[in-house]
Amino acid sequence: MQPAQFAVFGHPIGHSLSPQIHRAFAQQFGIALDYRAIDVAPADFAAAVQRFFAEDGVGANVTLPHKAAACALASQRSLAATRAGTANVLTRLEDGQLAAHNTDGAGMVRDITERHSVDLRGHDGLLLGAGGAAHGVAWNLLDAGVETLTIVNRSPAAADALADAIGEPARAHTRYWEDLADLGSFDLIVNATSAGVLGGSLQLPFSLAGARALCYDLSYGVAASGFLAWAKTAGARYAIDGLGMLVETAADAFELWHGKRPQTDPVYAQLRRQYS
Ligand code: ATR
Repeated sequence: MQPAQFAVFGHPIGHSLSPQIHRAFAQQFGIALDYRAIDVAPADFAAAVQRFFAEDGVGANVTLPHKAAACALASQRSLAATRAGTANVLTRLEDGQLAAHNTDGAGMVRDITERHSVDLRGHDGLLLGAGGAAHGVAWNLLDAGVETLTIVNRSPAAADALADAIGEPARAHTRYWEDLADLGSFDLIVNATSAGVLGGSLQLPFSLAGARALCYDLSYGVAASGFLAWAKTAGARYAIDGLGMLVETAADAFELWHGKRPQTDPVYAQLRRQYS
């Protein structure tokens, strides 16, 4: 019998760790699976996904730049996917239609609170960026007890749109990027911009990092290095990349597809050796 078919769709996708993570999870349970990385340009994404599921695909991860398109393709959406307007997991339903999930925010919060043992309750948070990645984590940060979330984006309209969508003005509000030096300090700073992924860097004032600051970059590897170096120089208590988040979000996808909860720590430890 052919093993069950899974895939991750992205563009580019060459360096995706998802195949390695899902194969490692599957090994924990002796599950046979075929997990491929599929590089597809935005114009071809919908057709490629439909072909994959028509040819017995069971589940797919979706990464940049397809997360919004993945959400739009589905006929059912989880609350997290609906709120974010993006999806990183697609699952085939019994009638052949697709369900969209977004496990990014839950994975990030679990990485912070469980792996790094930081309680987010009562934190004043700063969210840098208001694109797809920021949408994927904003609600989860508030649900985890972050007291206030200040959203700052280079283009203010996108920050306003995210704050409006959250609809809790006393807790989630926006400020201008140009005013970062005047905002005082934060306990939590989340870099959800794509500056590092695009090979750029952020010019951030050191005054942003408070004494107990946790600085978290949603990316990992070279893309996260600039922000994490800034955080360390600024004296942040924690400077954490998104590698643990990636493993946690994958674990949620794995559980959706296989009904089993994998152990994430050994897989995280293995990847950490690759991205020290
Ligand atoms: P993603 O899915 O990774 O979030 P996105 O939806 O394109 O990708 O969003 C990218 C985010 O990074 C946006 O908030 C973008 O700011 P703008 O809305 O002003 O474009 C932000 N970003 C990208 N490069 C940046 C840079 N050099 N400085 C500051 N913000 C940057």
